[in-house]
Amino acid sequence: MSWIVIIILLSILYGCYQWYCNKNLPPGPWGVPIVGYLPWLNPTKPYKTLTELARKYGPIYSIQMGKHFAIVMSDPISVRTALARNELADRTNFEVINEIMQEHGLIFTRGELWKEQRKFVCNWLKVIGVTKFGDKKTDLQLNIVDVVSSTISNLRQTNKRPIDTGKLFLVYIGDFVNRIVLGKEWPEDDPNWTYLRNLAEDGSKKFSIATPLSVLPILKIIPKYRKTVSEIIEGVLKTHFIYKTLMENRGKEVDQCKDLMALFMKEMTKRKNDIGHFFNEKQCCFLLSDIFGAGVETTVNTLRWFLLYMALNKDVQCELQSLLDLVCTGDDGIIDLENIEHIPLLKACVYEIMRLRPVAPSGIPRVVNKDITILGYQVPKGTMVLPLQWAMHHDKKYWMDPEIFQPKRFMDDDGNLINKKAFMPFQAGKRACVGDTLSYWILYLFGANIIHNFNISLEDGLSEQEINTITDGEFGITLSPAKHSIVFETRI
Ligand code: HEM
Repeated sequence: MSWIVIIILLSILYGCYQWYCNKNLPPGPWGVPIVGYLPWLNPTKPYKTLTELARKYGPIYSIQMGKHFAIVMSDPISVRTALARNELADRTNFEVINEIMQEHGLIFTRGELWKEQRKFVCNWLKVIGVTKFGDKKTDLQLNIVDVVSSTISNLRQTNKRPIDTGKLFLVYIGDFVNRIVLGKEWPEDDPNWTYLRNLAEDGSKKFSIATPLSVLPILKIIPKYRKTVSEIIEGVLKTHFIYKTLMENRGKEVDQCKDLMALFMKEMTKRKNDIGHFFNEKQCCFLLSDIFGAGVETTVNTLRWFLLYMALNKDVQCELQSLLDLVCTGDDGIIDLENIEHIPLLKACVYEIMRLRPVAPSGIPRVVNKDITILGYQVPKGTMVLPLQWAMHHDKKYWMDPEIFQPKRFMDDDGNLINKKAFMPFQAGKRACVGDTLSYWILYLFGANIIHNFNISLEDGLSEQEINTITDGEFGITLSPAKHSIVFETRI
């Protein structure tokens, strides 16, 4: 009993202290010492609680999340303005991430390393042919189409047997990303490729187990967390061993190659006598795994959501199929990016799925690198900033019936696509996703060709409650549909 009284008193004192120190902070809920508001967050879907708080406290509110003081933003215009500011161009400093990534790679880096490596990655994307405007008939498209064709051949063999799309797309989208990142194609059963795929699946689960450590590093005293972090680090080391072996075995052909590893190796050679740069073997390994990690899980899960909603919305599926039939005139039976330009509904379906089920519903956090004012509130240096995608994508102010899958909300009365300011799956500003255009190409080509070739349905016999569980999803590093199987019935 006396403990309860002490905890209550400490909470009151802590709250008063916070209030006294931070009078002009955005409003927000009170928390308790050490853990802040964490005990009240939905443990499996924290973005839902954060969204409820946004409806209560407004477009900007503050919240203590364990060790980190955070502001949560959910008004699209203020989010875009804030994310564009230089003071928000850094990522939050999470001890556990630093331990795993050693401040290398791209996603969790800061300062000069981030600037140099982001520029390098953006340039690499241009070199391989990823440009928002201009010719899309590049080798890159041929490469995507090649893996799409293999996926379709594989799906034809399933013979209406329900299959788990997660494993299948990991093989084929992963294969494509290996080609552009490592310049390597492995047979599906190659031991290294099998290891990397298992690690991608298993690593996501381990990362989500380790997530509480990012806000409560003290949890590391618990053996379960220590063990998980050691296992993640072991996986990183083994991945780097595979990459280093690939690098050692590459010969003169590197000069002609455009994959990320080849470009990085050329840069290392060019700058070997220079100082003040980060083109070294360690950075190369972390960068390669960052791009693989960022590119594969996000696109695989978005494609899974897309097919799931196609299965659940047969009217949209049929309409798309009729449009695809009209544009598919080539002998190879492939729908390419030029054909897709004539089907705004396909793009609208991809946007709608990314709105309804964004793979990063809580947003990828940034940090404020000096004391600033946002929307008239004082935001101290070190504050974590969450651009809350779920709240923006489900706000009734911007979307009618936000819970319903309605692709045509992204089209005007003449059938043209329209931009929606509250749609922000890749976030915005200087640190926005570098892979947005590439992701769209992958999703359009996979989505269009699969829907064109097959009638898609969900496995038989599921109750409404089971379907709700699947569409509610599972949140780890990304939001994915809960385990389910899809039936592919050949239509052409
Ligand atoms: C559906 C697909 C994808 C989604 C929804 C997505 C979403 C995001 C989001 C929300 C961020 C944080 C941006 C910010 O802080 O403002 C991000 C960062 C990033 N994404 Fe993506 N992404 C996707 C695919 C890809 C692909 C295919 C690549 C590979 C080229 C990629 C590479 C990256 C990288 C390297 C960053 C870190 C950028 C930086 O910190 O400078 N992403 N992504």
